[in-house]
Amino acid sequence: MKAVVQRRYGSAELGDLDVPVPGRGEVLLEVRAAGVDMGTWHLLTGRPYLLRVIGFGFRGPRSPVPGRDVSGVVAAVGPGVTAFAAGDEVFGTCDGAFAEYTVAPVTRLARKPAGLSFAEAAAMPISGGTALQGLRTVQAGQRVLVLGAGGGVGSYGVQIARSLGAHVTGVCSTGKVELVRSLGAHEVVDYTVADFTGTYDLVLDCGGHRSLSRLRAAAGRHGTVVLVGSETSGPLLGGFDRALRAMALNPFVPQKLVALTSAERGDVFEELRVLVEDGHVRPAVGRTFPLPEALDAVEHVYSRRSAGKVVVTI
Ligand SMILES: NC(=O)c1ccc[n+]([C@@H]2O[C@H](COP(=O)([O-])OP(=O)(O)OC[C@H]3O[C@@H](n4cnc5c(N)ncnc54)[C@H](OP(=O)(O)O)[C@@H]3O)[C@@H](O)[C@H]2O)c1
Repeated sequence: MKAVVQRRYGSAELGDLDVPVPGRGEVLLEVRAAGVDMGTWHLLTGRPYLLRVIGFGFRGPRSPVPGRDVSGVVAAVGPGVTAFAAGDEVFGTCDGAFAEYTVAPVTRLARKPAGLSFAEAAAMPISGGTALQGLRTVQAGQRVLVLGAGGGVGSYGVQIARSLGAHVTGVCSTGKVELVRSLGAHEVVDYTVADFTGTYDLVLDCGGHRSLSRLRAAAGRHGTVVLVGSETSGPLLGGFDRALRAMALNPFVPQKLVALTSAERGDVFEELRVLVEDGHVRPAVGRTFPLPEALDAVEHVYSRRSAGKVVVTI
């Protein structure tokens, strides 16, 4: 099969590999599309170095094929799999989505939502699941601020907060204002013109490059700040230093500071499926790239020019 092959950090190329064999609890997927997010860039480059020591591979990547978000058709099932059968259309996460075939654990899959293309479905698992988990505490009538509202996680954050009945303010750059408005934000702030003001019950920071003190001020005295991530610091910790400081500070400040680590689970993806089929969420796919251009797709995400999600189609 054709696959993007990565033997060490910092270099990868299109090559040929054997079709993998599903183990216990896994399925073989004929990949139709692979979503791209900042996590894929981190695993391709091995940066920040923190991720090498927390289990993603010290000298080189644990998985020889990059790509985690996936959608496709079940081609075969491994021992013990009863939840899915050959021919099922699914989406979820795996290790090695930039390939014609991959294996995925059934615990990280859900059925593809009716009415979505494979490209749209592959754009959902990590970004949509992260937004969903970051907004768990939101109640109808609350005010929610989404920073990075035109990006991968933020584009779901706007839609999910809105579906929960919140008043949603999205913050983004000029080129993404129309997208964020179309996603349902009640107010859109173009931070290149003027920054956001006021206080919010929940601040979802998806790459907004703001200091903890700025985010705490936006949460007023009793709000919640959910740090999804920000590409703000050096090669060792990436933006994670801010999350560490938030965890240390949390017991001593009136606001609730949450350093989110989203879980990649089939039940979370199942919730996304329901949100899509109920008409609350529609993946915003900005650009698609064919498999031979998968590395350009990752670079496009890294450049932050992308409005919404980037997807590799196979
Ligand atoms: N904690 C977790 O489990 C988890 C899960 C997924 C992702 N993440 C992390 O979360 C972050 C966001 O991920 P993503 O996939 O959404 O990335 P993304 O698609 O690149 O989106 C980030 C957005 O931030 C916007 N932005 C940049 N500077 C800004 C500013 N000053 N104010 C407001 N917005 C600004 C960018 O566009 P504009 O500036 O053009 O508006 C971009 O749309 C990344 O650091 C990623 O690694 C963490």
